[in-house]
Amino acid sequence: MTFLPYGRQQIDDDDIAAVTAVLRGDWLTTGPAVEAFERAFAERVGAPYAVACSSGTAALHLAMLALGFGPGDIAIVPALTFVATANAARYVGADVVFADVEPATGLMGPAHLSDAIAQAHRIFPTSRVRIALPVHLNGQACDMAGLARIADAEGIALVEDACHALGGMAGAAPEDRIGACRHSAMATFSGHPVKTIAMGEGGVVTTRDGAIAAKLLRLRAHGITRESSRFTERVQAFDGDGQVNAWYHEQVELGFNYRASDLHCALGLSQLKKLDRFIAARDRLVGHYRKALAPFAPIVRPLGLAGHGTPAWHLFVALINFDAAGISRNTTMARLKAKGIGTQVHYLPVNRQPYYRARYGVTTLPGADAYYAQALSLPLHAEMTENDVDRVLVALGEILGQSGRST
Ligand SMILES: Cc1ncc(COP(=O)(O)O)c(C=O)c1O
Repeated sequence: MTFLPYGRQQIDDDDIAAVTAVLRGDWLTTGPAVEAFERAFAERVGAPYAVACSSGTAALHLAMLALGFGPGDIAIVPALTFVATANAARYVGADVVFADVEPATGLMGPAHLSDAIAQAHRIFPTSRVRIALPVHLNGQACDMAGLARIADAEGIALVEDACHALGGMAGAAPEDRIGACRHSAMATFSGHPVKTIAMGEGGVVTTRDGAIAAKLLRLRAHGITRESSRFTERVQAFDGDGQVNAWYHEQVELGFNYRASDLHCALGLSQLKKLDRFIAARDRLVGHYRKALAPFAPIVRPLGLAGHGTPAWHLFVALINFDAAGISRNTTMARLKAKGIGTQVHYLPVNRQPYYRARYGVTTLPGADAYYAQALSLPLHAEMTENDVDRVLVALGEILGQSGRST
């Protein structure tokens, strides 16, 4: 019996060939594969600019830096996300106020954003709320138009954490593609292997703003520029004939080594070509899960649907009333594991993490707590078959004492 993890990459011969070609070539790090990947990514999501970097976490950090976000500023972050979303604000010395989420979907809605902004003004009366980070959890888009109405009224920039949602849509129009940044300053993506496309480690920031894109490119490479038109130290920069010194570059701000390598980008580009197929495969499996879960109601319900846009499913989350089932989540996970089925919980609300409790005290967000109490991510990846889904649900049914009927 093969072990079925909750998520994994699908690597084919074409991916291996793409990475091998880089290994045989002249560039291992920033070379032609980076630019080719960036061009293809920008085109796929409908943004003028895409900047590749070393991880989704780096992408979020770069986005904060590009907006000049820092001490005395506040970011609104939904509690239901991976810690990296909130950490990005802390990296630049800003503070975080956590927003609640819809218990059926885990998504931050406009009312949650409004409440969190009001809360931020109460807790930090002298700070400025400058950024909100909607998270397209599990591959479903937040209500970006609704969030933007509030953000615009408050003068807040939106930075989308789209690490779960490459290929999804926030609405019906082409410019609603996630990553096109119709309502946001930037969108950030991850190439971690459980995500829809794998780079190994990797990330991307997309934007419509050329100045932001240029800043992101600088910040991912130490804050260094090689554009002679930007050089400020003329005596060092130019020789006696007014020619640029060939070796010369200037560090104009404090950046990082957040570069993506050609190896990672070659894999990313090869995977991106198959994105539609991956999304369709995941969508079919989610459809099968949702149908086959019907007999498990009311103990088990599939995740609520956002009701706008088109998801690009990253995770399949079942909401399980463990109290009513008379079994703990941990025991359920252990018994599924014994049957060769991997599961995970996404996520402990970030406001409950010790680091954030130590900084902001104990806070309670009922929607996030209700979602967390019931969420269990069941296996979902492009290589799975409908028989695998049936196997998961038969096992779950046996463990929860349900009928386990899966067709
Ligand atoms: C919502 C979310 N944001 C950010 C990240 C960070 O991405 P990475 O692991 O590529 O740094 C992840 C990855 O797990 C994520 O799920």
